[in-house]
Amino acid sequence: MTAQLNPRGDVAVLVPAAGAGVRLGPGRPKALRLLAGEPLLVHAVRRLAAAPSVHTIVVAAPAAEVTAVRELLAPVAPVTVVPGGAERQASVAAALAAVPAGPTIILVHDAARALTPAELVESVAAAVRSGRDAVIPVLPVVDTIKEVGAGEVVLGTVDRSALRAVQTPQGFRRAVLTAAHAAAGDPLTDDAGLVEKQGITVSCVPGSEYALKITRPFDLALAEHLLAAGG
Ligand code: CTP
Ligand code: MG
Repeated sequence: MTAQLNPRGDVAVLVPAAGAGVRLGPGRPKALRLLAGEPLLVHAVRRLAAAPSVHTIVVAAPAAEVTAVRELLAPVAPVTVVPGGAERQASVAAALAAVPAGPTIILVHDAARALTPAELVESVAAAVRSGRDAVIPVLPVVDTIKEVGAGEVVLGTVDRSALRAVQTPQGFRRAVLTAAHAAAGDPLTDDAGLVEKQGITVSCVPGSEYALKITRPFDLALAEHLLAAGG
């Protein structure tokens, strides 16, 4: 049986959480590293479960941690946990295969974006509900961006005004994401990339600073400060 949150919700959220966290340094798989005393995955799932549209959450956990993750999340929210794969894309595919009949919108959300507010989940879902096939939350790029060649020599300056930094959750009409994964080739780092390859239009909505991806030790320290400040 698949665990449900709001039975009248129309959204299933897939949470790839099977990564090692190599860039965070030695330790447990990243989703299980502690932030203010709780695993990143607990922070992420608690915020997803607070979004009223969410019907189902499916977590792709490290294969050796599936039972531990089930026990960890049982008091947080009703969640389905499946073993993830060697690449993020395989973890998403494994979670997608476990979505029950019902939800017509699928969101894909990195466990590493542990402080993502429920409001962002709702705004991505609402954009799909309003008729978009694929929706990504984005922020403007603030740094000047240079293209660099061999020997770290600058080749040119990129026009920053046309660039966006992409976050999750990324939202899709269910049939669109299912078809894109069925046709997937080489692994990509996001799901919108698969959908773009299918020739589907991907639309942007404003992202959130709180949806930062915890990647390096500095990000974890920053997230600790944001939480301590009431984020
Ligand atoms: N992920 C996954 N399965 C994988 C690899 C990544 O489910 N085989 C998930 C991670 O758990 C994370 C999200 O995809 O929630 C984004 O990946 P990333 O930030 O790169 O996390 P890691 O792969 O764990 O980190 P690193 O690349 O530093 O090892
Ligand atoms: Mg990775």
